[in-house]
Amino acid sequence: MPKPLPSGLEVRQARADDVPSLATLLSLAPDDGSIYRFPHILEYPDEMREMHAGWLRPGVHDPTTLIRIAVVPGDGKDRVVGFTSWTRLEADPQDPSKTRPAKLAAKVAPAEEPETEEDTSNFAPPPPRALVPNVAHAEAIKRARKQAPPSPIKTTACYELGGLAIHPDYQGHGIGSLLARWGVDKAAGERVPVFVSGETQGVDFYEKALGFQRLRATEYWLDEKGQDISREEVQHGNEAWKKVNGGLSGAQMVWLPEGYVLEVDGEVYKG
Ligand SMILES: CC(C)(COP(=O)(O)OP(=O)(O)OC[C@H]1O[C@@H](n2cnc3c(N)ncnc32)[C@H](O)[C@@H]1OP(=O)(O)O)[C@@H](O)C(=O)NCCC(=O)NCCS
Repeated sequence: MPKPLPSGLEVRQARADDVPSLATLLSLAPDDGSIYRFPHILEYPDEMREMHAGWLRPGVHDPTTLIRIAVVPGDGKDRVVGFTSWTRLEADPQDPSKTRPAKLAAKVAPAEEPETEEDTSNFAPPPPRALVPNVAHAEAIKRARKQAPPSPIKTTACYELGGLAIHPDYQGHGIGSLLARWGVDKAAGERVPVFVSGETQGVDFYEKALGFQRLRATEYWLDEKGQDISREEVQHGNEAWKKVNGGLSGAQMVWLPEGYVLEVDGEVYKG
């Protein structure tokens, strides 16, 4: 059983003034894919915070991406403790065999943005980036994803969960499940699947806590050097893909409404 939800917890759409707190949370709760690509990621929270703030600032205004967050009351300001990002893919009226992102989020009012742009012309140039990726790991993830068949989100009306992270101080309280349930409940009501891509920790969570299924053709296993490990090797007990051994595994996953049948790469999945 998870610990009880923190008192005063509220779930709502992210606003422009949440960006600093949300960027801090994301810098402290990287997923396993990010840790594999950037093994020193937790040593550079400031750089990561800036990087996240960079995409969140326009991101909170994007009507096709709904950033839903969990907040607790802080010192006069909400503290963001949970993050999810959702897209609704609907049939494209120009070509119904394809999908396009639907408008999901109400636009965030421009009044919440700072009124004037800061003049940075006299500032010193930013320091060189200290956080460098492990190139072999980054390439290995790209290669593994390329080998997968075309993603069903390109042709299937669905919800896509684009990201999920809970502040380390608040993990194990049921907040991750609560945030992810929102999309699962919407999808159940609209009788469409939910897709998400995950790595080791996320895949386990989506499967065990929420009943997602792994799409077999998208599963991959990588060792400490970024070399592929085959499904057969994994079945025969190779554990080099485990996080404790420096490796990574990942997959695209799907949650299906009851009675829904999905075929991906010749494999049939049922809700
Ligand atoms: C994975 C994560 C989102 C889980 O969120 P959370 O709020 O801590 O999870 P919950 O408290 O809702 O957990 C609900 C249940 O799932 C289980 N669970 C949590 N994390 C799990 C994991 N990695 N694997 C398997 N089960 C897990 C919990 O034990 C709990 O089970 P219980 O009800 O039997 O006690 C969180 O740990 C996190 O932010 N991790 C870092 C970022 C990340 O990996 N994101 C995934 C994107 S790929």
